[in-house]
Amino acid sequence: MIIESKEIEGATFLTLTNRAGLKITLSDYGAGIYFISFNGVPLTVGEQSHKAWLHSDSYFGKTVGRLAGRLQDGKLDYLGKLYQIPANEGKNTLHGGPEGFSFLKFRLDVSHLGEDVAADFYLLSPAGAMGFPGEVSLRVRYLISESEPSFRIIYEAKSTEETPLNLTNHTYWNLGGTMNVEGELLYIDASKAMTYSQDLIPQGFQDVTSPLDFRIPKPIGKDISDPSLYETRTKGYDHCYLFDENDGIKDVAVLRGKTVELHIQTSLPALQFYSTNYFTEGLELSNGRKIALHAGAALEAVKAPGDFHSMAVLPFETKKDFVAYSFKELKL
Ligand code: BGC
Repeated sequence: MIIESKEIEGATFLTLTNRAGLKITLSDYGAGIYFISFNGVPLTVGEQSHKAWLHSDSYFGKTVGRLAGRLQDGKLDYLGKLYQIPANEGKNTLHGGPEGFSFLKFRLDVSHLGEDVAADFYLLSPAGAMGFPGEVSLRVRYLISESEPSFRIIYEAKSTEETPLNLTNHTYWNLGGTMNVEGELLYIDASKAMTYSQDLIPQGFQDVTSPLDFRIPKPIGKDISDPSLYETRTKGYDHCYLFDENDGIKDVAVLRGKTVELHIQTSLPALQFYSTNYFTEGLELSNGRKIALHAGAALEAVKAPGDFHSMAVLPFETKKDFVAYSFKELKL
């Protein structure tokens, strides 16, 4: 493994290149993924400028917490108590609030596990941070294989008080650096998807309609103009899918570009698929493009929105989850 590190604007950018051609740049800021390529093919979308990436509010590649998703009016009703989480999207709270985990600096520690390398990002989130109960200590481990084009993210969290935690990684994929992902084939093992209010507040799971159905792989662009996807304020896919069957071993989502395929396995029960429906005009991306509508597919493994029971971290308990990503080169 080749390990390189540089400091930019007070943040560390760590680049790991393995024998299989996978190159991944991580940062302690937001315990995030700045960029991934495989045999020189760009796989992710994010700001090219490190400075812009650090200060971005688009969550490109970052770890999201304490609660991924939205809270209406910033209100968290948990164990009979009402917590007020600061709003950062109109009256609502998105992705843990204005000082959520994506905006915090983690402590980085790199270690060798056999020939593989672990980049561990540690954070201590004080009790009351962003209004949430419990002091949470978190480790986000990126475990990079030396011999395979694959890596996994392992989350480990503890809390001094019972508290809900819904962590995710917010990488936007574009397998090949094309203008948008409309031509990429997506598979999601889910017959249920979330319905939303006009303002994207989760309302409950329902059977997937045909435009939302990815159980048989189809190009992301096939149904992306369907009027039913525009009934809320978004402009394409921004839906949480509940996996039908998940043993943590089988693929729950697969994204296929022209020359590379991404396979995802996870211990988590659901996946938020967001098709980059909002963007900052003119933004230069790390894959060499300028941002465009549907430039990337964020595939965020999560706990089901609203299922606070599954999100609970109990005192004296370590809550663990993983998401595994592996890549295949497709022969033309
Ligand atoms: C959400 C989108 C949001 C985006 C922000 C996604 O996880 O589902 O609604 O706009 O994050 O980058």
